[in-house]
Amino acid sequence: METFEVTGGARLRGEVEVTGAKNSVLKVMAAALLAEGTTTLTNVPDIIDVPIMSEVLRGLGADVTGHAPEIAITVPGEIGHEADYEHVRRIRGSVCVLGPLLARTGRARVALPGGDAIGSRALDLHVMGLERLGATFDNAHGYLIAEAPQLTGAQIWLDFPSVGATENVMMAAVLAKGTTTIDNAAREPEIVDLCEMLQGMGALIGGIGTSTLEIEGVDRLRPSVHDVVPDRIVAGTFAFAAAMTRGEISVHRARTEHLEIALDKLVQAGAEVGQLDDGFIVRCDRRPRAVDVVTLPYPGFPTDLQPMAIALNSIADGVAFVTENIFEGRFMFIDELVRLGGDVRTDGHHAIVRGRESLSGAPVRATDIRAGAALVLSGLVADGTTTVSDVFHVDRGYQQFVEALQSLGAPIVRRVDDTLV
Ligand code: UD1
Repeated sequence: METFEVTGGARLRGEVEVTGAKNSVLKVMAAALLAEGTTTLTNVPDIIDVPIMSEVLRGLGADVTGHAPEIAITVPGEIGHEADYEHVRRIRGSVCVLGPLLARTGRARVALPGGDAIGSRALDLHVMGLERLGATFDNAHGYLIAEAPQLTGAQIWLDFPSVGATENVMMAAVLAKGTTTIDNAAREPEIVDLCEMLQGMGALIGGIGTSTLEIEGVDRLRPSVHDVVPDRIVAGTFAFAAAMTRGEISVHRARTEHLEIALDKLVQAGAEVGQLDDGFIVRCDRRPRAVDVVTLPYPGFPTDLQPMAIALNSIADGVAFVTENIFEGRFMFIDELVRLGGDVRTDGHHAIVRGRESLSGAPVRATDIRAGAALVLSGLVADGTTTVSDVFHVDRGYQQFVEALQSLGAPIVRRVDDTLV
């Protein structure tokens, strides 16, 4: 079992570089299926989800070579249509092969991902959108089975701007006959990144970055070379780390405009945020003030940074009200934070966080990727030692997290069965 052992008290100082976004790379890898030939992806993060997604693509007949930061995906003329449970269970994001498979082969058999620690991952909007394009769905033996001999453009209204549904519908619509409009589409930077990748492949997409996407189907797409957008959640995690530890961190290769609301929260908390040529710098020399946070689809405050906001508020001066609107299970990690002395009470999707002068180190368990990162940040401001277990979650989202924190002066080590690595 691998754990992170964190000792509190250090003020983090230095520079970090952000890699490509986990939530984008999986989708652009799936998009490669839309064209026969070799697609090259750069700025690929060195995280476990990439080799798992590579396995999904290999299972469909593609050849994936190279290593982060650059991989090549070669897609044959004929591809398979089944993504099995073993892989989809490990990375729920792999359900994004559904749209490309329908577009390329007219059918798809994709394992239902099931639930996970951050809450329900319904697929009703994915299904509704693809049905509007002419697909029919069945559900048998744990698989979603779809058929669409001919996808045809349609007008689609999403009840909620789901990231996954927008991506699946978009990837089907680019090869459909006629025009598709997606209203109330998600407009996360990872969606924009996917749109840009698809445009590079020859897709016709209007309204990029807005909540109305207009897609004119084309007969075929060509492979492309695409540079994955920087990970705003990783960048945001280091921004919170600087504010919480009263440190100073320059975050390079990051897109400040993707984090405006989160960085503004840190300014309200008393940190200074400055622009760099290729990112931003966060500096804080006081105990943070409590700040209220409400998670919302982009450009609202990201749900993936909500655990960091609760962690910051747990050592802030004052009381904060944090509302989670996207994933109901995202408060699960609070019980772990309470083990570190956090004073947090929840009522439904609201949390009241009463800041304390400091936390106190204890063994805790990472319940998901972002919860794990937030517990590490909490350990950095706790008295004594905090041991975070189940760190495979953190490894899914953060390339060399321990090494990056060490370079900023954090007393953190990885242990495998009590052996230091
Ligand atoms: C993606 C991200 C995740 C991020 C989230 C919101 C990946 C791999 N994951 O997840 O890190 O937190 O966006 O920014 O990219 N929903 C439905 N029906 C549907 C689809 C979604 O009810 O058909 C609900 C979900 O249960 C959830 C909410 O909508 O409560 C948001 O889901 P969605 O935007 O689709 O997030 P994901 O694509 O799963």
